[in-house]
Amino acid sequence: MKTILTGIRANSELTLGNYLGALLPMVRLANKHSEKMNVNIFVPDLHSIIADIDGNLQKNIIRTIKYYLAAGLKINPNVHIYRQSYVPAHSELCWILNCIATMGEASRMTQYKEKSDGRDSCNVGIFDYPILMAADILLYSAEYVPIGEDQFQHIELTRNLAMRFNNRFGEIFTVPVKTAEQVEFMGISDGVRIRDLLNPEKKMSKSTAAENSKIMLDDDPELAKKKIMSATTDSLGKIKYDMFNQPGISNLLTIDALVTDTPLQDVISTWAGETKYGDLKKKVGADVATMLSEFQNRLKDIQDDEIFALFDLGEKYANEVANAKLREAQKAFGLR
Ligand code: TYM
Repeated sequence: MKTILTGIRANSELTLGNYLGALLPMVRLANKHSEKMNVNIFVPDLHSIIADIDGNLQKNIIRTIKYYLAAGLKINPNVHIYRQSYVPAHSELCWILNCIATMGEASRMTQYKEKSDGRDSCNVGIFDYPILMAADILLYSAEYVPIGEDQFQHIELTRNLAMRFNNRFGEIFTVPVKTAEQVEFMGISDGVRIRDLLNPEKKMSKSTAAENSKIMLDDDPELAKKKIMSATTDSLGKIKYDMFNQPGISNLLTIDALVTDTPLQDVISTWAGETKYGDLKKKVGADVATMLSEFQNRLKDIQDDEIFALFDLGEKYANEVANAKLREAQKAFGLR
């Protein structure tokens, strides 16, 4: 059986970008394919600790899985939910991959460049994090890895490491499909990158300080409306999808398409020829507010016990699969 795999770090509240770029597409894919494919959804808690931890990591780990359920994930025996740090094979394979990855390729990762910003005080985990991500994927022979556009470079790195390993040591790892095929599998025309509301040149990120730049999943729906109303647009006075010249307007059109589950092309056509940015903002704000209030209502009914029961089953499965693959890699290297 083929495997779809994804993870979201549990650092703090998630943004609308995480929701629309990763969580919702994963839930839709999982519900569509889980009769015939393994669906692995894990919390990369070891990835979480590359950033400052605010003392709520345990709570956030549990809440991350609640988010998937609140977004509509249906559980069946092919859906496996686990925590990365409860499957030690991830760290062990990461070390093996460290020894075939090069400093050059790890240094070229955009996220490392952005997060380290030339600082010597940057932790080594930030540098190594894409290689741990490769281990997360390769241990389960996952071909499909639904993620937002900012993570595509890491999929290419994973592919390169898998092919390099296979060339040197024999066919051990399944190479995930190319990012273009990932996008096709996700059923979207392009990678999703939800932009910062105030500075739409950048992606919406939980680590941006300005509150109005991002919508958090626990935002009061009325507050979310206000944030959309204050989003940066442009002075061109026409509602057109043009990420280059009108990133703010294009971002709002993208958000509305995803929130209402409407093809982007249909949303673009609906607004073609319109000029009133305020009307667009009102519509997007209302749709986001409806989505948030439905999501938050479902979230509050999910109990911690349900999540622990899922972890128990999922971690048993994950350790079996991951240990078997790790053993193959160790043997190939001559470690066993
Ligand atoms: P993380 O936790 O930073 O982000 C989780 C997911 O959210 C997507 N995302 C966005 N998508 C669209 N627009 C945005 N503004 C936006 N912001 C975030 C990300 O692309 C991602 O899909 N390294 C990963 C976690 C990870 C992982 C893995 C994922 C670890 N191992 C193995 C898949 C497979 C990360 O830090 O994502």
